Amino acid sequence: MRIVMIGTGYVGLVSGVCFSDFGHDVVCVDKDASKIERLENGEIPIYEPGLEALLAKNVEAGRLSFTLDLEQALVGAEAIFIAVGTPTRRGDGHADLTYVMAAAEEIAKTATGYVVVVTKSTVPVGTNRKVADTIKTANPNLDFDVASNPEFLREGAAIDDFMRPDRVVVGVENERAGQVMSDIYRPLFLREFPIVTTDLESAEMIKYAANAFLATKITFINEIAALCEKTGADVREVSKGMGLDGRIGNKFLHAGPGYGGSCFPKDTSALARIGQDYASPMMITEAVIRVNDAIKLRMVEKLRDLCDGSFNGKKIAIFGVTFKPNTDDMRDAPSLTIVPALVGGGADVHAVDPQGRREGEALLPHVTWQADAYVAAKDADLVVILTEWNEFRALDLSRIASDMATARLADLRNIYNAVDAEAAGFDGYISVGRQPFQKTPETKC
Ligand code: UGA
Repeated sequence: MRIVMIGTGYVGLVSGVCFSDFGHDVVCVDKDASKIERLENGEIPIYEPGLEALLAKNVEAGRLSFTLDLEQALVGAEAIFIAVGTPTRRGDGHADLTYVMAAAEEIAKTATGYVVVVTKSTVPVGTNRKVADTIKTANPNLDFDVASNPEFLREGAAIDDFMRPDRVVVGVENERAGQVMSDIYRPLFLREFPIVTTDLESAEMIKYAANAFLATKITFINEIAALCEKTGADVREVSKGMGLDGRIGNKFLHAGPGYGGSCFPKDTSALARIGQDYASPMMITEAVIRVNDAIKLRMVEKLRDLCDGSFNGKKIAIFGVTFKPNTDDMRDAPSLTIVPALVGGGADVHAVDPQGRREGEALLPHVTWQADAYVAAKDADLVVILTEWNEFRALDLSRIASDMATARLADLRNIYNAVDAEAAGFDGYISVGRQPFQKTPETKC
C-alpha cells in the first residue's frame, strides 16, 4: 500500500519509517527543505535509538522516500497521515491546530482518487470532523474518509513502542476506512497486538485520557514522595508495594523532579482547556498541572537547603538536562526550571548531557558545558543528577566525591542511595521521597 506521511517530526518520522518496515511504500512530506535534504542523505534530525539504521534499510529497499512535493507524493496513495505539530497555543493552553488544518487544505487541493485521511497528531475531540469539513468545503468532489489514529510511542523507545504496541487505536466512521486501516496495520494484527477500533471522538479522547492519566500517576507518586520525606517512609518501597497490585501496576510510579517533555505538559494543558470549553472541568488534570509545576520548584528548595540556603558562589555540576534519557529533547524539562534558579542564585553551573548539549546551549544561558561527568564534578560543591542516563547510573562515586570541593550529591532520579553515597565519601546525599544523609553542619557546602 502507498502511504503518505505529512510531517517529519517525531511521530511522523518514526511512523513513516516503521510503516515502510512493515513493507508499505511510504513517502514522507515536509515543507522544510533542509530537513528533507538531510533525510534524503540518511541523516535524522532527532536523536532516537535505532531510527537511523531502520531508515537507511528501508530507503535502500526502495520503500521509503522524502519529498517537498505533496501533489507528486499523493499519486496512487490510499492513506495520507497528518502528523504535524499541535503545540500549545500561546496564551490560552489550547492545542494549536493551524498546521493540521493547513495540511487538510492542501490534501483537498491535491488529492484525486479515494483516500483515507488519517490524523496521527494529538488533536482535541472533534478535530477529525473539522478536518473532514475543511476538505469537503475545499473540494466537494473528493472521495475520502477520515480516521483518527493516535500514537502512543515514547521518545527514546519509539521504534519498539511502534513495533510492539500495547494497543493500536483506530477511530473510523465506516467499513471502507476501517479496511484501509486494517491493511495498514496488518503486520500487527497478524502478531495479535490488540487493535481498538472505535468512533472518531473516542479515539481522539483515548489519547488525551491516556497521557493525562499517566501524568497523574507520576504526579501522585511525586506528591507521595514529598510526604515520605516528612514521615520517614521510602517512596521506592511505597511504589513497589503499590505497583504489585495488578489494578495499579508498577509503571510510571518512579518519583522524580516532575514530568516534562513534548507531550504530557502540552496534552494535560489541552485537556484542561477542552474541559473548560465543554463546561465539564477536568479538575484532577488541572491539579496535576499545578502540582507538577510546584514539584519542580520544590526541587530547587531541596537543593538550596543542601547548600545551606544559598547557591551564591557555589560550583554546581548538573548531570542530565533532557526531560528523560535517550533523547535530545528538552521541551518542558525540569532542568529548564531548576538550572536557571541555580544560575539566578549565583551558582557557577557546569552541565553534562550525552545528547542535550546542542539544545541546552540555546535554552540554558550562563552554563559551562562539559563532555565528561568527572570533569564537570571536579571542585564542585554539589552534583545534581537530573536525568537518569545510563552513563550516570554506574558512576565511580568515590572518585567524584574525592574530587569535589564539598562532596554533596542530589540524586533527583533515585538511582543511588544514602548508604552508597556515604560509603563513597559524600558528606551529604538527598534524593526524592527518601531520607537524606548529611554529615555535620560545618562540612556543608
Ligand atoms: C509520552 C507517553 O508515555 C507516550 O505513550 C505518548 O505517546 C507520548 O507521551 C506522546 O504523547 O507522544 P514521552 O513524552 O516520550 O511519552 O515520555 P515518557 O516516557 O512518558 O516520560 C514523560 C515524563 O515523565 C518524563 O519527564 C519522565 O522522566 C517522567 N516520568 C515518567 C517520571 O517522572 N516517572 C515515571 O515513572 C515515568
